[in-house]
Amino acid sequence: MKDYNFAYKLLAWYQENRRVLPWRDTHDPYMIWISEIILQQTRVVQGYDYFLRFMARFPDVDALAAASEDEVLKCWQGLGYYSRARNLHAAARQIVEWGGFPERYENIRQLKGVGDYTAAAIASFAFGLPHAVVDGNVYRVLSRYYGIEEPIDTGHGKKCFAALAQELLPEGKAADYNQAVMDFGALQCVPKNPKCGECPLVGGCIAFRDKRVQGFPVKSRA
Ligand code: ADE
Ligand code: SF4
Repeated sequence: MKDYNFAYKLLAWYQENRRVLPWRDTHDPYMIWISEIILQQTRVVQGYDYFLRFMARFPDVDALAAASEDEVLKCWQGLGYYSRARNLHAAARQIVEWGGFPERYENIRQLKGVGDYTAAAIASFAFGLPHAVVDGNVYRVLSRYYGIEEPIDTGHGKKCFAALAQELLPEGKAADYNQAVMDFGALQCVPKNPKCGECPLVGGCIAFRDKRVQGFPVKSRA
C-alpha cells in the first residue's frame, strides 16, 4: 500500500523550509552535477563558495574538459578528497566525447565519480526522472518515521531502504521530494535531538510514538 501522507507532508514542510541554494532552481545538468560532487563529502556551508568559484572558473563542461588536471585540482584546493576533482575532469572529457550531458539515469551513473545517490540527484533535479536519493539522511528519516528495525549496514537492509524510498517517490515530483528529504534530514530530523516538537510528521512517526528516536537507524554492528 502506498503511503501518500509521508511524501505530501514532507513536500509541505519543504515549501516552508526550503534552503535557497545556487544549484537549485536550475535544470542545468552541469551545474547540478558539480554541486552534487562537491556535496558528496562536503557540507553545504563549506561547499557553497567552492561551488561559485568553480562555476566562475569552469562555466560549462567544455571549459572543464579543456582545462588541465592541475588547473582543476588548484580550484579544488582545500576541499579534500581530490579523487573527486580528478574524476570530474575525466568525466567532463567523457561528456564532451559523448556529445553532451547524458540524459538517462543509466548513462549518468556511468560517469566517473557518480554513484547511485549522485545519479539519482542529477537525474531528478536536471531531468525530472523518478529516481529516489538514498543516503544517511534517508536511512535516518525513514527508519524513524516507519520504525524500521532492518539494519542499514547490510546488503539486504540497503535494498529494503532503497525499495521503500523509491516507492514513496510521488509521481512527477521527484526533484522536490529529493530536495525535501535532504533538507528534512539536515535541518529537522537531525541525528542528535531532532526537532520532534515542531515536526509536521510527528503524528505518524513510530520512533517518536515509541520514544525510541535515538534508537534509529539500527546497525548490525555497534
Ligand atoms: N547534499 C547533497 N546534495 C545536496 C543538495 N542538492 N542540496 C543540499 N544538500 C545536499
Ligand atoms: Fe524525525 Fe522526530 Fe519528526 Fe519523527 S517526529 S520524523 S523523529 S523529527
